[in-house]
Amino acid sequence: MQWLRLHPYITLLTALVLTLAGISAGQAGFDDSHARFAMPQDPLFVKECGGCHTAYAPGLLTAGEWRQVMDDLQNHYGDDASLDGPTRLAILRWLEEGAADAPGATRLMRRITETTAKSKDLPRITASRLFRHEHDEMPGYVWTRKAIGRKSNCGACHIRANAGRYDEDEVKIPR
Ligand code: HEC
Ligand code: HEC
Repeated sequence: MQWLRLHPYITLLTALVLTLAGISAGQAGFDDSHARFAMPQDPLFVKECGGCHTAYAPGLLTAGEWRQVMDDLQNHYGDDASLDGPTRLAILRWLEEGAADAPGATRLMRRITETTAKSKDLPRITASRLFRHEHDEMPGYVWTRKAIGRKSNCGACHIRANAGRYDEDEVKIPR
């Protein structure tokens, strides 16, 4: 009789344990479900594309724009970011799969596809209307602070940008 009365609680407890296990499993993986932008699971991505600047999440540009970037890594915004063939292809694949116009894109990402300005130069996340909209209250002098330097330095303020995290509570503007 005692056991029968406990039974609902056991079920509830089991459900709770399973839920918590699910949450921690999500955080342990690289592709954090709480991140604004999903990141490729393979550390190769951050290693190759996060050495000179923030490793920009695939969801920050469209697939076509990423192809434009990856087609000429030798002339990369004034720098040489060349990769060997297989590495370039692997990274291009992740960028296309997670792009702002890929089938699984979130609403936030889709806003990038709607607004990115078309340009003959290499595309810039910082030129998109989404970027400008999200940062329109930032006084101009902040961008040039020593610890920031330029708008493309996302990680200076979004302290977990290399994990695709741009949440409000993970922003810290350097003084
Ligand atoms: C050797 C250094 C170097 C490496 C490696 C590198 N980049 Fe860059 N990247 C730069 C520089 C320099 C800029 C221009 C920064 C600026 O003017 O704000 C830039 C800018 C960018 C921008 C435009 C940012 C914006 O919105 O203004 C994108 C997108 C980008 N890089 C993607 C990549 C990807 C993808 C990889 C990996 C395949 C990569 N980069 C690897 C040096 C590098
Ligand atoms: C000078 C600091 C700074 C830099 C550099 C910066 N941001 Fe931000 N970003 C902010 C602040 C502050 C907010 C607003 C947070 C809030 O909503 O209160 C924000 C908001 C955002 C948001 C909206 C988040 C949300 O969930 O609503 C996105 C997305 C974002 N930034 C992306 C970027 C990207 C991508 C880069 C680099 C290309 C970048 N930011 C560079 C300070 C910065």
